Amino acid sequence: MHVVISLGGSLVYDENGLNKEFLATIKKVITERVGRGYQFGIVTGGGKKARDYASEVRKNGGNEFEADSAAIKATKENAKEVIKIIGKPAYQKVITDFDDAVKISKKAKVIVMGGTIPGITTDTDAALLAEALHAIRLINLSNVDAIYDSDPMQNPNAKKFNTLSYDGLITLAVEGDRRRAGTNFIFDILACKLIARSRIETHFVSGQNPLDINAAIEGKQHGGTVVK
Ligand code: UTP
Repeated sequence: MHVVISLGGSLVYDENGLNKEFLATIKKVITERVGRGYQFGIVTGGGKKARDYASEVRKNGGNEFEADSAAIKATKENAKEVIKIIGKPAYQKVITDFDDAVKISKKAKVIVMGGTIPGITTDTDAALLAEALHAIRLINLSNVDAIYDSDPMQNPNAKKFNTLSYDGLITLAVEGDRRRAGTNFIFDILACKLIARSRIETHFVSGQNPLDINAAIEGKQHGGTVVK
């Protein structure tokens, strides 16, 4: 029984470096369940480190493909740190493609990936991994606690969704795509379409709330949003 967890890059690595407290929570959540029938596919984002690597490439005249390749490197570095912290139950190398993910997860209880190819984000990698592993659910952990009908930072009356249909999610993602740059929707549009085509139950919860993380992994009610 596979659960895929997408760790937002800013949760793993922020201005102060590696977020050890968050990673300790993830280790606990995972080790408690490995051996109880759960297996995990983890995808780590790049956060500030990815943005820094990409800007450095652009500053030196690199194009967007090259900037993405540098950002992917940051996601893989974060993946390596996650492997180190999870320790024994995790396969000890960063997985770099989906065929390997499927092969290795036949033996390993926990596998960890970063980004894969330029032009996408780790949201899409997580959705693809969930498809590849026939995961029962996907958990998206970020600094945002749920999906809202507008940006809760800008609009104090933004309405939180406890549940959302796949079509509802796609509609919000398309609207988000039209907004100005820098106001990214919580999950990229391609990732939304992938979970919709495979009907993968997807939970959006705050990475700062261990109770919600535990509930989401078990498919129970929590303070975030469930898309199904
Ligand atoms: P993230 O998935 O972390 O990007 O990948 P993000 O949406 O900026 O998320 P936060 O800030 O972590 O929440 C970081 C960057 O790495 C490249 C893209 O440039 C992406 O913006 N990337 C990632 C790829 O090109 N391909 C991948 O498969 C993954």
